[in-house]
Amino acid sequence: MAVALIVAAGRGERLGAPGPKAFVTLAGRPLVAWSLETLAAVPAVQRIVVAVPPELAPRGAGTDELGGVALPPGTVLVAGGATRSHSVRNALAAAGPSGPVLVHDAARPLAPADLFERALAALEHADAAVAAARVTDTIKEAEPGGAVRRTLDRSALWAIQTPQAFRREALVAALAQPDDVLAAATDDAWLVERAGGTVRVVESSPDNLKVTTRLDLRVAELLLAERC
Ligand code: CTP
Ligand code: MG
Repeated sequence: MAVALIVAAGRGERLGAPGPKAFVTLAGRPLVAWSLETLAAVPAVQRIVVAVPPELAPRGAGTDELGGVALPPGTVLVAGGATRSHSVRNALAAAGPSGPVLVHDAARPLAPADLFERALAALEHADAAVAAARVTDTIKEAEPGGAVRRTLDRSALWAIQTPQAFRREALVAALAQPDDVLAAATDDAWLVERAGGTVRVVESSPDNLKVTTRLDLRVAELLLAERC
């Protein structure tokens, strides 16, 4: 059985909302509630841990709600850290002793249940398995001054998303790094790659977008309206 970590402790500076991004309203509910609902319906997920901004983490006894939404039974809230990887590490500390780990950004509310399942299944062949969309733009590498160095082979390029699934020991080792290395990581799978672990991509749709700006919030709202 797996544990799922949702990281929801970011400030959302690029969105520019008055409060933390994971709690802005998306189609009538807090952003983080969409991922919580999807994960609660994934049979392989036994426990969910959510890293929230420290001021929203419960002191002492637990809580059964988050941002006014009921939490799936057994969900644990922990205080997030200074960077995303630190939030993952704090959540992992509350994840129980064994079993594979799914890591997911609250900022990706549209990830479907089967994507979590396919990422877990891909761990049969790798230390980590990451949701990824095929790149559709042509990608060029350029000098800082703008001169193009080369055009990359698009057929081999993937835009990396969450969820990301990990064998437990691979994620524990990946996160046992100095603070400056953790702070430089934009995804956890990179930390596994650095440590010599094997990582696979699991094909996903560009619809699994990350809400970063107000435009993303609008697009996510439209995609959710299409689903209902
Ligand atoms: N995150 C976190 N702890 C942090 C930073 C980020 O849990 N210290 C989470 C965010 O809540 C989000 C995910 O990591 O779900 C991806 O981060 P990002 O999209 O960058 O969100 P924010 O850091 O909130 O946004 P910004 O960078 O614009 O401030
Ligand atoms: Mg950020």
